[in-house]
Amino acid sequence: MVNIKLNGVDKTIDAADDTPLLWAIRDLAGLTGTKYGCGAGLCGACTVHVDGKAVRSCMTSLSEVKGKEVTTIEGLSSDGNHKIQQAWRELNVPQCGFCQAGQIMQAADLLKGNPNPTDDEIHKAMEGNICRCGCYQRIVSAIRHASTGA
Ligand code: FES
Ligand code: FES
Repeated sequence: MVNIKLNGVDKTIDAADDTPLLWAIRDLAGLTGTKYGCGAGLCGACTVHVDGKAVRSCMTSLSEVKGKEVTTIEGLSSDGNHKIQQAWRELNVPQCGFCQAGQIMQAADLLKGNPNPTDDEIHKAMEGNICRCGCYQRIVSAIRHASTGA
């Protein structure tokens, strides 16, 4: 049993300490917005926030998040209107959508720490998030749009 705060709600997860956070989120808590891509920390599809920082939930054990705040794409904003989500809609970023929750969570972390990043800073922050549909240019444009309105 592991106690975490998931999207602002106290949860007791009935699973072993070494269970990957991703399995707990998807299979035990039923929040399927967070995706399984590689399972090896290489694609970013599983990105969530732990105490406000982007982490790969496939590489994070439940014991590592004991007592911490975990935020998934479902909890990023109560109404889906986080500025990154708005920019994503305005610029029609997604194609198939599979990588997008991870992209958005990574981008939200970037803007929290750096509200007006340069393109180089955007590329560096997002380089670990893979998009098999190749939406990279729209992703960068949307982050710029969210930060500057441009
Ligand atoms: S599924 Fe976690 S990084 Fe790919
Ligand atoms: S939109 Fe298809 S993988 Fe990124």
